[in-house]
Amino acid sequence: MRILTGLQPSGKLHLGNYFSAIKKMLEYQANNELFLFVANLHSLTTIKDPNLQRSNTYDAVLDLLALGIDPNRSVFWVQSEVPEVTEVTWYLSMVITTSQLSLAHSFKDKTAKGFTPSAGLYNYPILMAADILSFQSDKVPVGKDQKQHLEFARDMAIRFNTEFGEVFKIPEPDIDENTAIIPGVDGAKMSKSYGNTINFFDSEKELKKSIMSIVSDSAGVDEAKDPDTSVIYSIYSLFLDKTQQEELKERFRTPGLRYGDVKKELLDKVLEHFSTFRTKREELASKPDLVHEVLESGKTKAKAAIAPTLEKLRSKLGLIL
Ligand code: ADP
Ligand code: TRP
Repeated sequence: MRILTGLQPSGKLHLGNYFSAIKKMLEYQANNELFLFVANLHSLTTIKDPNLQRSNTYDAVLDLLALGIDPNRSVFWVQSEVPEVTEVTWYLSMVITTSQLSLAHSFKDKTAKGFTPSAGLYNYPILMAADILSFQSDKVPVGKDQKQHLEFARDMAIRFNTEFGEVFKIPEPDIDENTAIIPGVDGAKMSKSYGNTINFFDSEKELKKSIMSIVSDSAGVDEAKDPDTSVIYSIYSLFLDKTQQEELKERFRTPGLRYGDVKKELLDKVLEHFSTFRTKREELASKPDLVHEVLESGKTKAKAAIAPTLEKLRSKLGLIL
């Protein structure tokens, strides 16, 4: 089965991304054909500084490779290096109306946050559909916020196939409605836009600062504490198996526990869990030639995968003389 997903390079990766999205990609990689790209054409809609664009994209590449995306097993590339998707975007823009696009939540959300209401931002769902459909993906794992984009993509595929003849596979969304929302240090959903993240590739000093700032209630050392309402517990438990989770719950319920001590343990857990990834990341950062080779090979594979669909599209649309 072909699984495809894109990740916008819009900031540092955090525990929320890792325990929901990235772990899932790694699981898929083990048993399926994974197509994964860094969606830098999408991030053009919100990032205007070219230096930031470049460094974010490169960081995302290093992060994903360090975390275990294996370019020999998966097809891994940077979106802008396969500009064929922009050609497909144009073709797909013939089978979606402006009134449909005007219903996109993402456009409303982003413009409400102050981003320029550019045509690029408005057409974002068409580019995303092109990403998905060009590679004949079977399944697309995304977060809940991307649900409508997936519906648009399916719609465009069905409409195109009906109007011009079968070209596209109809992709299935893979949205885990039950994925727990991982809280940030302030207890709200961990998110870059809230500034409440724990970024696992930060330095030890920065990590310590984030972890020490996790909110807790005012229960004294000699009082029992409730793990079920504790943000520290929610985050710590991500690193534990079922038995260890029960043990930690018991420690919370037993008077004597100091939040400060638990936070120090959590810091150790984070450092331990990501230590090999961190080393790998440093290694990759010191070998830019290797990283570029990996991207070159990903680009070649992605171009080969998109070519037959492009041929079909041009032919169905009457563009081949
Ligand atoms: P952010 O909210 O930090 O901008 P993104 O929207 O880039 O994060 O999310 C990338 C992926 O990580 C998505 O699949 C999203 O569902 C997942 N994700 C992000 N934050 C959390 C969280 N706090 N809990 C669970 N999953 C999350
Ligand atoms: N829009 C997605 C997000 O913000 C990223 C993305 C771009 C994507 N193209 C995609 C996800 C194709 C899945 C498939 O998270």
